[in-house]
Amino acid sequence: MKFRPTVAEIDLGAIRHNVEALGSFLAPGVERLAVVKANAYGHGTVEVARAALDAGATRLGVALVEEGIVLRDAGIDAPVVMLVEPPLEAAKAVVEHRITPSISTPAAAQAVSDAASIDGSTIAVHVCVDTGMHREGMDYERGVAFVGEVASLPGLEVEGVWSHFALGEQAEHPFTARQIELFAAFCDELSRAGIDVAVRHLTSSAGIVLYPASHFDLVRMGIMIYGLYPDEALRARCELRPALRLSSAVSLTRRLGAGEGISYGLTWAPERDTTIANIPIGYGDGFARMLSNTGDVLIGGKRRRIAGRVTMDTLMVDCGDDDVSVGDEVALIGSQGAETIDATEIASRIGTINYEVVCSIGPRVPRRYIR
Ligand SMILES: Cc1ncc(COP(=O)(O)O)c(C=O)c1O
Repeated sequence: MKFRPTVAEIDLGAIRHNVEALGSFLAPGVERLAVVKANAYGHGTVEVARAALDAGATRLGVALVEEGIVLRDAGIDAPVVMLVEPPLEAAKAVVEHRITPSISTPAAAQAVSDAASIDGSTIAVHVCVDTGMHREGMDYERGVAFVGEVASLPGLEVEGVWSHFALGEQAEHPFTARQIELFAAFCDELSRAGIDVAVRHLTSSAGIVLYPASHFDLVRMGIMIYGLYPDEALRARCELRPALRLSSAVSLTRRLGAGEGISYGLTWAPERDTTIANIPIGYGDGFARMLSNTGDVLIGGKRRRIAGRVTMDTLMVDCGDDDVSVGDEVALIGSQGAETIDATEIASRIGTINYEVVCSIGPRVPRRYIR
């Protein structure tokens, strides 16, 4: 049952298009992993996973064991790589659901090995090495020895090794070049030590376009499969289609007199009489309160400024003397007529990144899929 008109439409054709577009940068044989953590950046884990696999992705990436279980419960059989080391107490669930964990510490390696041994199975793991981001990963100097140690534990097969860029969205950055060099040297050293690892991976979306030397055996595609750019300079290099459109409908209109304040705190008042339209979405849906008095929405193909504070369930916009009625369509993210508001515009208005804008769209907003 759905009474409120607020909805996020997800164009799965756009997801497929974007996965294919990224594939065009890769040499034959390089695998594509679709990152579907955080509810597929707000787009819906299972639907996006299926669309990405349809379009040529061969693996999925998650952050939580729970996210991997959602995929398995939906009947998705593709390899699922956890890009965060699992908590020790999750080792059994990781094994049971055939999730491929990232391993950065001896404790996690031991826990997963113990769980696999009890289960009598062998589980693929991807060892993470730190090449400079200093978030996850075994210390670089210990990396090769650590892979050897993990490989020697019962029930574990080191299928992959990986690392992550700190500045991957900036073209020709010396720090990124250095990370590529370090990762390549690490892989060479593994070979020399007689440790064969099938799946070496380093880059996320941006490096697919900007750093061909970072492709190795697999690339991890996140933001760009959603049709958003990690940096605007990439727009000219790769044609993507935004997959998410957030819309609603006007729920109430009123005339507001000049000088009359509106919403909590009465932070805004019109200079002359105006029509205000209420829209049933607010920060309780992940639509940022920081957009108060600074964000726009589209009604009737025109931009309308948010008037006063965004509240938990409702925001109000200034429509001037235009003829705006209850039920009129409102585009919050997406196009209407010739106008477009994208997640990147919203992000720049509130000092964040487009990733956070789409990830924040909460569970109260139903997702509708266009197949
Ligand atoms: C380890 C790892 N790989 C890949 C990605 C995907 O990055 P992007 O969305 O920039 O493609 C992320 C995103 O947070 C990540 O943490």
